[in-house]
Amino acid sequence: MQFTLNTGQANAVEIVTGPNVSGDLKEWLGKYLTGCEEVFLLADSNTREYCVPRVISLVPSLQKAEVLEVPAGEKSKSIETAGQLWNALADKGASRQSLLICLGGGVVTDLGGFVASTFKRGIPFIHIPTSLLGMVDAAIGGKTAINLGNIKNQVGTFHQPEAIFIYPGFLETLNAYELMSGVAEVIKTALVADAPLWKKITSIPLKEIIQKKSSRELEDIISGTVAVKCSIVEKDFRETGLRGILNFGHTLGHAFETLSHQNNSKHLSHGHAVALGMICESHLSGLKAGFEQNIQNELERMIFPDYEYYPIKNEDVDFIMDTLVHDKKRKDSVNRFTLVKSPGNAIPGVECTPAEIKESMEHYRTLNKQ
Ligand SMILES: NC(=O)c1ccc[n+]([C@@H]2O[C@H](COP(=O)([O-])OP(=O)(O)OC[C@H]3O[C@@H](n4cnc5c(N)ncnc54)[C@H](O)[C@@H]3O)[C@@H](O)[C@H]2O)c1
Repeated sequence: MQFTLNTGQANAVEIVTGPNVSGDLKEWLGKYLTGCEEVFLLADSNTREYCVPRVISLVPSLQKAEVLEVPAGEKSKSIETAGQLWNALADKGASRQSLLICLGGGVVTDLGGFVASTFKRGIPFIHIPTSLLGMVDAAIGGKTAINLGNIKNQVGTFHQPEAIFIYPGFLETLNAYELMSGVAEVIKTALVADAPLWKKITSIPLKEIIQKKSSRELEDIISGTVAVKCSIVEKDFRETGLRGILNFGHTLGHAFETLSHQNNSKHLSHGHAVALGMICESHLSGLKAGFEQNIQNELERMIFPDYEYYPIKNEDVDFIMDTLVHDKKRKDSVNRFTLVKSPGNAIPGVECTPAEIKESMEHYRTLNKQ
């Protein structure tokens, strides 16, 4: 399946996806490799082990690519790692005629996109996402980012890759926890923007389909989610309005993620934090946007027990409230959230008071069954 993501503001992006696309990679990538002076392959320690050999076996000419490796994990989305990559590119003579291929999950595509979009004011790059979250969300839409300390995505650019190649075969080596992380973004996209997709994922054994890692149904879920994201990004590339609906679950989700890094407890992955954020923000949606209780319950049943409950203490609530001060959507000292009215119908930028936000966290705490 082939999409063209055309925002009218940047290059049109070719997106290829499908279970049988691996055979096409050589030919497809060939046209981007032609005329390139140097090719760089960015991977993290896991995708270097599991995905680099596979991509080289599919496209033998990539053997000549210079592999740049960063440690796996969110900590690599830092200015220090970006600096190391700029230096590596400079040392190896990268120019605007070079190509950077980002082969990994959302960390690699966010970081690699940021480095490529800023090095020499922008060199061409391609995303080959290898996690489910990367395939359905992070690699699509031209948002690049690094974190500032523990604060998520504070520095970044809007910059489109030349193209995106989505091959579900890479999921074979992805563990169950990371697969569920990606499912959270599927649930979010369906809930905010596509009532038929929501209906579909709530009426099939979603977890089973995902855990099998390879099926026609999984392929349909991936391409369906990609299509929804593309249609939103095409209408609002720079997130001046509509694209904000994709932030549902992310305001409190990012705060949960920051908290888990701060607490030195088990780090919550992005998708798991978003799943918990969706619980709080669907409660806010009930308070402020008339989101029906039975659909809130349906969402909660989808999230628990597949996502682990992350306990929050009283002092954690204060920490989360402090973290929200850095939220990019905050305006005039007021936090704004994307809230859902009904499946497929979300509203970005709804002002919520500290009392309402705290109430949503209190609701979350009532769900602790441990
Ligand atoms: N730019 C955007 O629009 C956007 C949207 C959503 C999320 N994000 C960002 O994406 C990041 C999360 O992405 P993620 O969940 O992919 O995290 P990730 O990149 O850290 O990948 C998760 C883990 O899976 C491993 N992995 C990836 N592919 C693998 C494979 N095929 N086999 C074995 N292991 C593999 C990685 O090494 C890592 O350990 C966050 O930083 C988030 O902020 C960005």
